Amino acid sequence: MKYISDIITLEDYLTEIGCETSLGDLILLLSEQAEPIRDAFPENQDYAGTENASGEDQMALDVLADKLLTDTLEESGLVGAIGSEEKDTILYLNNPYDGFGVNMDPLDGSSLIDVNLAVGTIIGIQDKGNILNKGEDMLAAMYMIYGPMTTLVMTTGKGKGVHEFVLNNDGEFALLRENLRIPEDGKIYAPGALKQDYTDKHLEFIDNLEGDGYKLRYSGAFVADVHQILHKGGIFTYPATEKNENGKLRLLFEANPMGFMVTEAGGKISDGYRNILEIEPEAVHQRVPIYVGSKGPVNKIEQIMNR
Ligand code: AHG
Ligand code: MN
Ligand code: MN
Repeated sequence: MKYISDIITLEDYLTEIGCETSLGDLILLLSEQAEPIRDAFPENQDYAGTENASGEDQMALDVLADKLLTDTLEESGLVGAIGSEEKDTILYLNNPYDGFGVNMDPLDGSSLIDVNLAVGTIIGIQDKGNILNKGEDMLAAMYMIYGPMTTLVMTTGKGKGVHEFVLNNDGEFALLRENLRIPEDGKIYAPGALKQDYTDKHLEFIDNLEGDGYKLRYSGAFVADVHQILHKGGIFTYPATEKNENGKLRLLFEANPMGFMVTEAGGKISDGYRNILEIEPEAVHQRVPIYVGSKGPVNKIEQIMNR
């Protein structure tokens, strides 16, 4: 663990690990939005009075975070297209250089804003303005969590490791932990959806976890729940149910970036049958059943589902 006497900033770290300059610049610009987003919480506790493309009521902070991030990306000159949970369609930017494709969930865990629990921002980065590309094609992924500390977790691609930074009192992200590895012996489970809507196989899986002594840890923010599992081991699920065959969470904005980071940390993400990162996206707001976490429990659900 690195302490403040031993500061390595996100900027220095990106250089140290040989991150390509424009990708590093993009990650730094996005990281600079943590403070303005965080500062907006006290004044933005209410609903915005609008709905997003998935028919969900938008919170003022969903709209504000989307605007802050979009303005930053537009001004950067580094980005060719943006897909966002809060935008109906892909936003193509008039950028002579074809730039990056950025998929984002500007504010994940919106139902927790008014109760002051940890929420976050999730981002996946593709090349050449690509939005509807497979998760495994991503160049980089990151998330920021607004909790007791503001932290940033990122990877700059396959084989580059997953690293965690904390926003310090000088307003800089400093390295907190490098090369995170998801434990295989952790026993935390975060089960989304209503139990009464579970399919038989999913119910069997959850019963198995409980029988094996898994402890319930579900907050209502995917990013915070997966963050906990990344550190402690276990599994997050938001399954297909009798009512919603694709579950609730979105492939491009939630599953792919988080799955990419968990996979890079030695874990796995599945829709119950196959690696989510191999799915060819068909629509920007496409939903997908999710099982993400340590390899053991993710392999177990695939065994049950494929039986
Ligand atoms: P968002 O706030 O971006 O709409 O995402 C909410 C998601 C996810 O963060 C969380 O795991 C899940 O929805 C919670 O849903 P339930 O209220 O059905 O548990
Ligand atoms: Mn979300
Ligand atoms: Mn959201």
